Amino acid sequence: ASYDMGGHDTYMHKEISEQPDAVDRVLRGRIDDRFSTVHLGGLNLDPREARTIRRIKILGCGTSYHAGLIGASLIEGMARIPADAEPASEFRYRNPVVDPDTLYIAVSQSGETYDVLAAVQELKRKGARVLGVVNVVGSAIAREADGGVYVHAGPEVCVVSTKCFTNTVVAFALLALHLGRIRDLSVTDGKRIIEGLRKLPAQIEEILKTEDEIKSIAAEYAGAQSMMFIGRVRGYPVALEASLKLKEISYIHAEAYPASELKHGPLALIEPALPTVAIVPDDDLLEKNRAALEEIKARSGRILAVAHQPQAKADHTIVVPKNEDELDPILMGIPLQLFAYHTALAMGRDIDKPRNLAKSVTVE
Ligand code: AGP
Repeated sequence: ASYDMGGHDTYMHKEISEQPDAVDRVLRGRIDDRFSTVHLGGLNLDPREARTIRRIKILGCGTSYHAGLIGASLIEGMARIPADAEPASEFRYRNPVVDPDTLYIAVSQSGETYDVLAAVQELKRKGARVLGVVNVVGSAIAREADGGVYVHAGPEVCVVSTKCFTNTVVAFALLALHLGRIRDLSVTDGKRIIEGLRKLPAQIEEILKTEDEIKSIAAEYAGAQSMMFIGRVRGYPVALEASLKLKEISYIHAEAYPASELKHGPLALIEPALPTVAIVPDDDLLEKNRAALEEIKARSGRILAVAHQPQAKADHTIVVPKNEDELDPILMGIPLQLFAYHTALAMGRDIDKPRNLAKSVTVE
């Protein structure tokens, strides 16, 4: 790629740093304060049609799948439409039931991922309505889809996705708000979400300022054989994405589990040599998450928490600014991009070109 690194040592660092501007771009021109909603020009879905949707199925791979998981919870929460996400690569091989009342959404940074494209083509052949949440304008998936939302993250060069993940989740928040306001979401809640969205760029800026602290924390975890990532409900996809980021660039084995599943098995792994990264937002699940930290501490596990306030049971806490509960996952992922980055850097890895990986997987 021929884009300038703009004074950064790696594209990954450049792209992480660009997130305040990138988020600003995905919001720009779309917010309608008068009706507490958003306008999405390319959606191609009229309100009457939007009211007939009975389910939403989101398809993507890797990081885009993780963004889709958060997207599903945003849509279900705000629009009260049952929604879930599935890896496109699995969906296309299991002969899924294609339901006319389901809206399908394909998510892709490149818009060229073959598994996603093949799923879209199969869906369209069966008469389904498919929207795209895509970064690259005019890409194959964007062209195949009936309409969609562009993510406007700008060019992403690093093999591992960072700013596009964040922008994709924000794009889903916009879509959720749009669908919500057509269905049952109140004006008051619409306003609340819009205010939250507007705060994001400055809050991301604040998180980026803590990079030195994150770097020194990363130095303590670099070289671990394996790491556990946990989160609950909204926090779980954040854990999945953070663990993928760490794996991709540091080659440290990492697994992500819902915090609630620890006691159903993985707790057996906890010991001082297996650190846990825990997503601990200040929401109605805070006490439940704290209980999980206690379980881990009781087994002498080291804990790095990402939270809205310092966690007594954690060895380290990265404190992030609070937004609306629904939008917190967007912010909680960002320090963990820097954590993966500095862990990998401390281990001497080639950040922008991790072994065995390509930026977009355009083959089967
Ligand atoms: C992200 O860090 C990955 N390298 C990878 O999982 C990626 O998200 C996946 O291949 C999907 O790519 P896409 O968003 O371009 O479709």
